[in-house]
Amino acid sequence: MALYAIGDLHLHFQSEVKAKGQIKDRIWKNHEQKVKKYCEELIRPEDTLVLAGDHSWGRNLAECEADLQFIMDLPGRKILLRGNHDMFWDAKKTEKLNELFAPRLEFLQNNFFAYRDYALVGTKGFCFEGPFYLNRRGQIIGWDEEQEAHAAKLIEREAERLRCSFEAAKTAGFRKFILFLHYPPTNILEVESPFTAMAEEYGAEQVLYAHCHGESRFADSILGEKHGIRYSLVSGDFLKWKPMKVLD
Ligand SMILES: [Fe+2]
Ligand SMILES: [Fe+2]
Repeated sequence: MALYAIGDLHLHFQSEVKAKGQIKDRIWKNHEQKVKKYCEELIRPEDTLVLAGDHSWGRNLAECEADLQFIMDLPGRKILLRGNHDMFWDAKKTEKLNELFAPRLEFLQNNFFAYRDYALVGTKGFCFEGPFYLNRRGQIIGWDEEQEAHAAKLIEREAERLRCSFEAAKTAGFRKFILFLHYPPTNILEVESPFTAMAEEYGAEQVLYAHCHGESRFADSILGEKHGIRYSLVSGDFLKWKPMKVLD
């Protein structure tokens, strides 16, 4: 039995790709075939795969059908996190999605899922991504304060959702946690955030996040061990489409 994670598949079996980088960059060429191949090689029926958001370019559930079917056809148990591009997933309808797709897919938000004696908790997360203002040497000398204030509200709401997830798991008796976020736990300026604080408060062993695409963004947030917690980026292009093993 093993736990794997990967994020940002950005599937588009039915819909148009909206990011130019994804069309141009070689890493995205036939990426869904690579995902399928690696999953079939690695993941056994008793294993669990967490998909850390940005599953599909579809704008609603009907436009995501083929993409979600592709995920359903991958081996093992599949748990999905909500990404910023997952338009099919209304934040208030997570329970409905869980009813609709049970037992083929499970949707993680305001709830948790058990993996052995661990609770898998998570939410989309959020972080302020700019715009930042740079000087001639490329150093950050300021940022858009209105956007930052807007981001602070979204961060607060996501932090509440994450607390719901942790508390539901704690009430059910879980004491070991693995935390999944779609957005990185901090932005490029911060060393901590409500998400890293909560990971420490509840004693999460690992924090996994996605969303950062392209080499220039791979080091946007924490990577490796910090305050006893292991932080990993699991965006698909960073992993070259091979799911990362999180736990045995
Ligand atoms: Fe993405
Ligand atoms: Fe994203």
